[in-house]
Parts: sequence; structure tokens; C-alpha cells
Amino acid sequence: MKNKFIAVEGLDGSGKTTQIKMLASALEKSGEKVYVTAEPTYYETGEYIRRILSESLDKNMYLQGALFLADRLEHITHPEHGIKKYLAEGYTVICDRYYYSSFAYQGTASDIDWVMNINLRCPEILTPDLCIFLDVDPSTCKGRIDAGRNGAELYEKSVELMSGIRNNFLDVFSRLKDRENIKIIDANRGLEEIQADIIKTVKHS
Ligand code: TYD
Repeated sequence: MKNKFIAVEGLDGSGKTTQIKMLASALEKSGEKVYVTAEPTYYETGEYIRRILSESLDKNMYLQGALFLADRLEHITHPEHGIKKYLAEGYTVICDRYYYSSFAYQGTASDIDWVMNINLRCPEILTPDLCIFLDVDPSTCKGRIDAGRNGAELYEKSVELMSGIRNNFLDVFSRLKDRENIKIIDANRGLEEIQADIIKTVKHS
């Protein structure tokens, strides 16, 4: 089986991190080499973005869209730790958030076509072999965020805001459905049940 580039998307508090860990260990048990990574990154570009998010800095959405793209390019092309390098070495790469997040979070607040174009028309930006969206009720996500963290990040403010972002994701997926491999998984269920669906999806794509 060819090594894949898998993006996992979902609202904050949707359980991405847990499901990614479970998927990575299942794939490793079946003999695959797996590299798990995330956006925003831990490069300087990603650190700047994290500061904007955690301190809720007032940065316009075009600037945010451009910064996330710059961070993504660093993420893909970095000579030692870039996604391209891991794929070339035969790793399956699992990425916690990718350009779909830019479309859903920055796109609709600036200009969705512009955000989609700068990402999708950039020759260095890879198309994932599979995007998995963990679809969880926004009020469940909000409850988990409130239970687990002290201060809300820029995009974790209210159930209304998170419902809007979920709708943006669903709109983006319907726009991309003919050209990309996107699977929406009902993640309002038990961990093992969700994981079983994820494994099935990965094996069949
Ligand atoms: P998140 O996955 O929540 O990281 P952490 O686990 O460190 O909190 O991502 C941080 C935030 O970044 C999240 O609210 C969504 C936002 N984001 C965008 O707005 N655009 C993007 O392109 C990406 C990748 C993330």
C-alpha cells in the first residue's frame, strides 16, 4: 500500500489529537512508518500565529490567511522536517489541520475565493490523499474546551462562532467534493467507534 498524506480536520475540541494518536499507533502496528504533524507548526511562522491566536491580537484576516499559507509552505518544504521529505522517505504523514482550516476560519471572514486560490494554486502546496473531518456538535466541543483550558483562543469564543465555522467547513467540502477525497465522520460517538470508522476509511482510500 502506498504511503499517504492524510489531513485531519475538525473544530477545536473535536477530539482530533486523540484520534490521530490512535490512528498512528494502529498504522504503526500494521508495519507502516508514520509521521504525525500539525498546523500551525512549531517553526517561527507557527509561533507567530500561535501568539496571534492565544493573545487574540487584532490582525486582519488577509494577513492571517497569508501567514497560515507561509507556515504551510515551511511545513511542506522544510529540508529536514518537511512533509515532502517524509513522504519521499515512505512515511504516511498525518497532519492535524491543513488548508481546509484556512478556508473555514480565514476564508469566510475575508474572501473565501482568495484564500482558496492562494493555497490551491500554489504549486508547492500538496493535495492530501485523504481529508477526514471529525464532525462533532459545536456545543460538545465548547464544553470540552471550557473544561480543559483557562482562556479561550481567538476562535473558541462561543457556540455560535463554532457553529459558523462548522458550516464553513461543510460548505468548503461541498465545493471541493469532485476534486478531493474528503470523508466526514460522525464523531459524536465513543472513541473506539469513531476510530473504527477512521481505520476503515484510511484502508479503503
Ligand atoms: P489547534 O488545532 O486548536 O491547535 P492547539 O491544539 O495547539 O490549540 O489550532 C489552533 C487554531 O488555529 C485553531 O483555532 C484553528 C486555527 N487555524 C486557522 O485559523 N487557520 C488555519 O489554517 C489553521 C491550520 C489553524
